[in-house]
Amino acid sequence: MTSLSKAKYLKQYKMSNIIAMMRNNRKEPEVCNDEFKGRLVVITGATSGIGYETAKEYAAHGADLLLINRNKEKSIDVCEEIRQEFQVKCDYKIADFARLSDVRYVGKELLESDLEIDVLIHNAGLYSTKKIYTEDDNELVFQVNYLASFILNYMLKDKLKARGETRIILVNSEGHRFAVFGIGLHDLKYEKRRHSGLGSYGVAKTAQLLSIIKFAEYFEESGVTINAVHPGDVKSNMGLNNGRIYRFFKKRIVNRTLKSPERSARALYYHGVSKEVEGISGRFFNLTTEEEPAPPALDRDAAEELWQKTIELVGLE
Ligand SMILES: NC(=O)c1ccc[n+]([C@@H]2O[C@H](COP(=O)([O-])OP(=O)(O)OC[C@H]3O[C@@H](n4cnc5c(N)ncnc54)[C@H](OP(=O)(O)O)[C@@H]3O)[C@@H](O)[C@H]2O)c1
Repeated sequence: MTSLSKAKYLKQYKMSNIIAMMRNNRKEPEVCNDEFKGRLVVITGATSGIGYETAKEYAAHGADLLLINRNKEKSIDVCEEIRQEFQVKCDYKIADFARLSDVRYVGKELLESDLEIDVLIHNAGLYSTKKIYTEDDNELVFQVNYLASFILNYMLKDKLKARGETRIILVNSEGHRFAVFGIGLHDLKYEKRRHSGLGSYGVAKTAQLLSIIKFAEYFEESGVTINAVHPGDVKSNMGLNNGRIYRFFKKRIVNRTLKSPERSARALYYHGVSKEVEGISGRFFNLTTEEEPAPPALDRDAAEELWQKTIELVGLE
């Protein structure tokens, strides 16, 4: 990355945005109590943490669920529990997002099915301190947190637009702010630049925010909306895939400051159902408060370039 492009973003940072973020972090999310009976909600990564609590929140309001998870045993257990507790339909599909063929396969199944998706929540994600490559030769965090949601949205976009009712929610993060100098469009595979856990997480979440610019344009006036939500800082299995020292630090120190993922679930229910956000699209929310993301996530030129590069990278038409 040239020093010129670094300077471009640095000039755009505003202290007021960081202050707003800190203030919003402390706010309790708006609550929606409307029923959602018989409506279909698709959630990725619903076997633990935020995805699991969100699945239960929607089921408690009568919604039917289709969960997209990588682990079959956990999926069977979660669906069984939800069916018994809430008497709603709960089904699952298996896809490991570390394998793009799995993502395309499940995308094709959704495309060819007659399921009418009311809310599509892209939640699956991970944080990795190590640079790991997938069998598709992408950095793992970039692939699971960004590429997978991009592929599903891209494959389904015409179908969703034709129906004109779905709310797409990307579970994003204030961690996008770690990509201080942008996503490094010149090196999306981390072949030339230094990798760090926080950096790669920030890049993946910023890439997802950039994709919203283009998808929101595509869905404009169609009735489909797409927004990104920071789900709060909550206790979950996030990061537990890392080494012993990290896990110790997370469990003994970080977890003490974290809230319950039920808080995230309430916010994600609000975004999927509340009339107060009907028609709102292309925005970033800290829980249920709209917030301005960091400058690299608002870079329209970068969004255009990333869109093209992503399509080439994952081999979409
Ligand atoms: N927790 C927070 O404070 C926080 C803050 C900001 C943003 N977020 C975001 O919230 C989302 C949910 O995270 P969480 O905190 O609930 O963490 P979590 O408890 O670790 O849940 C992550 C979910 O993603 C699934 N997943 C991980 N790798 C996958 C893969 N390769 N293919 C398919 N699914 C995969 C996990 O499946 P398994 O059960 O099989 O592992 C699990 O269901 C993430 O996008 C994260 O970036 C979390």
